[in-house]
Amino acid sequence: MSRIKPYPQSPRRLVPAAIPRPEYVDRPVPRPYRGSDVQTPETIATMRETGRIAHLAILEGAKHIAPGVTTDAIDAVIHEFICDHGGYPSSLGYRGFPKACCTSVNEVICHGIPDLRPLEDGDLVKIDVTVFKDGVHGDNCMTFGCGTLDQASADLMTRTKEAMDRGIKAVKPGRQLNVIGRVIEAYARRFGYGVVRDYTGHGVNSAFHSGLVVLHYDQPGVTTIIEEGMTFTIEPMLTLGDYHSHVWDDDWTVVTNDGSRCAQWEQTLVVTRDGTEILTAP
Ligand code: MF3
Ligand code: CO
Ligand code: CO
Repeated sequence: MSRIKPYPQSPRRLVPAAIPRPEYVDRPVPRPYRGSDVQTPETIATMRETGRIAHLAILEGAKHIAPGVTTDAIDAVIHEFICDHGGYPSSLGYRGFPKACCTSVNEVICHGIPDLRPLEDGDLVKIDVTVFKDGVHGDNCMTFGCGTLDQASADLMTRTKEAMDRGIKAVKPGRQLNVIGRVIEAYARRFGYGVVRDYTGHGVNSAFHSGLVVLHYDQPGVTTIIEEGMTFTIEPMLTLGDYHSHVWDDDWTVVTNDGSRCAQWEQTLVVTRDGTEILTAP
C-alpha cells in the first residue's frame, strides 16, 4: 500500500470582513479558556445552530468526494458553505492551520491539510469541520469512502462510528467522564483495532478547545464527573494496525507510524438531564 505524500496547497481563502472571527485567528495560540464546562441554556441554543451549520458543511463537502477530485476542492466547497451561512471556519488561522477544514486520507489520523492531491478509488476520507458563529463553536467529523472501499476499511469506518455512538450513549449526569473511553476502547478491542491516544475529545463552547479532555481509552485515574449542561466532543480515531503516530514536517498532518488506515467520527454534544443531545445534527 503506497503512503500518502504532501502535495502543494492553494493560496489561503478569504472570509468576508463582516463575519466575526474567533480571538485566536492569526495569533500564535488561543487565549486560555477560564469559564465553566457547563453552559447556559442560551449558549446551548446558540451552539445548536452553529453545530447544525458545521454538520451540513461536511455533508456538502462530501458530495464532491470522487476519484480525481482534490481535497482542496472539497475545502473550497466547505469554506464557501460556512461563509454563506454567516459562520467562520474555526480551523482557518487556528495555531497557523491554513484551511477551512481537515481532510485526512487513509493512514492520516487527523489534521490533514486540504491540498492538490487527487483522491483515488478506495481512499478512506475523513472530513473534520468546525464552525464559529454567534460566539460559539461546533465541531464534527465523518468518514467516507471514495469509490469502492476494501472490506477492512469499510468495516473500520462503520465500527468507528459505532464506537462513537456507544461512547455517546454512555454519557449521563453523575457518571465518570472516563466511562466514555472505557466503552470505546472495549468495543475497539473486539476487532483488534488500535485506539489513538495522543489526540482526544475536548470541551467546546466559546472556546474551540476548552481544556476539558475526553479520552477514548480507559484511564481510571480520571475522576471528572459528567454534569448536565457540559458541552464536549467525542471523536474516536481507530486504526487497522498500531495506533502510534508521528506528525509531518508541516507540523499538522498526523499519520500512523505503520501506515495502517484510520477512521474517525466526531460529534459535539450537550449533557441533558438523562443523557445527551447532539449539537452537530441537521
Ligand atoms: N477539529 C479538530 C478537533 O476535532 C481540530 C482541528 S485543529 C485544526 O479538535 F487546526 F487542525 F483545524
Ligand atoms: Co474536536
Ligand atoms: Co474536529
